[in-house]
Amino acid sequence: MRKTQTFGPFLGACLMLFIVLLLSSTAEAPPPKFKFTKKVDTIVQSKCYGCHSEKGRGQKAKDKLMWDDLAGLSTADRVKKMELIQAVVEKGAMPPKRMVERKPELKLTDKETKALKRWAKKHAKAK
Ligand code: HEC
Repeated sequence: MRKTQTFGPFLGACLMLFIVLLLSSTAEAPPPKFKFTKKVDTIVQSKCYGCHSEKGRGQKAKDKLMWDDLAGLSTADRVKKMELIQAVVEKGAMPPKRMVERKPELKLTDKETKALKRWAKKHAKAK
């Protein structure tokens, strides 16, 4: 009997604390992180990142698209970027032609184009 008297309130308090923590953690949890699939990440790192990240030297490319910032954008803004990515990949406009002429290894292969396009399309529809 004595045991329940001591442990009852204690367990009750623990349960309350647990519930409070659970509720506050879900309330404060950041929205689901935007993620590159491994395949897409590899493509992006090797073919796009050189210009569309802090590494890039040209401001124009950075103004248009910063890969590392995608995750932090509002959904609406990200959807817009995804539409742009889908469009440039579909047109074969990226990496820029001039760059591909100088560095043919930067050209997206058919497989990479397909993977990137599918991924961008999927995320362009996200709500
Ligand atoms: C050699 C540098 C370079 C590389 C590599 C590169 N880009 Fe770009 N990208 C640019 C520049 C410069 C612009 C801005 C063009 C402009 O404003 O005329 C741009 C613009 C864009 C835009 C915006 C287009 C628009 O219509 O506003 C998208 C989307 C984009 N790039 C995606 C990509 C993707 C995807 C890759 C990889 C497959 C890539 N880029 C690789 C330089 C690069």
